Amino acid sequence: MTSNLLSNKLLTYKVIRDNRGVLIPIEEGKQIPFSIKRVYFIKDLNQEPRGFHAHKKIRQVLVCLAGSCKVLLDDGNEKQNFEVSDNGTAVLIDKEIWHEMYDFSSNCILAVFASDLYLEGDYLRNYEEFKRYIKK
Ligand code: TYD
Repeated sequence: MTSNLLSNKLLTYKVIRDNRGVLIPIEEGKQIPFSIKRVYFIKDLNQEPRGFHAHKKIRQVLVCLAGSCKVLLDDGNEKQNFEVSDNGTAVLIDKEIWHEMYDFSSNCILAVFASDLYLEGDYLRNYEEFKRYIKK
């Protein structure tokens, strides 16, 4: 059974395709359940997995603009794997969720919407530190 922490993490968004191409609208309060303070993009990926951290406060939504990848979410109790792709599926990476991204397709491009600016102090980069932090 999936815990509350890991349920409802797969989000969907509209992909508007016509004969000119594809348009993907992303709006605060609709696809993104928080105020957007920062957006960053990840591309030119090789097969090396990324992430391997959690955030103390920052919430993020990961949208796959091209190709696909897998995302592991771990609330310290349970782990769940998601696949995101350019067909309109995104993942909510809530605060206090350990996450890893892997299995990138060769053309994968990710857009990440975050609830705050880049703050190194918000990172929990060590799994044991993460486990201790969420028990507090
Ligand atoms: P990193 O956290 O290692 O990326 P990932 O979680 O995908 O493995 O970030 C890589 C580098 O980019 C690191 O030096 C921090 C920097 N960075 C910023 O300057 N601003 C940002 O918004 C992010 C997410 C990272």
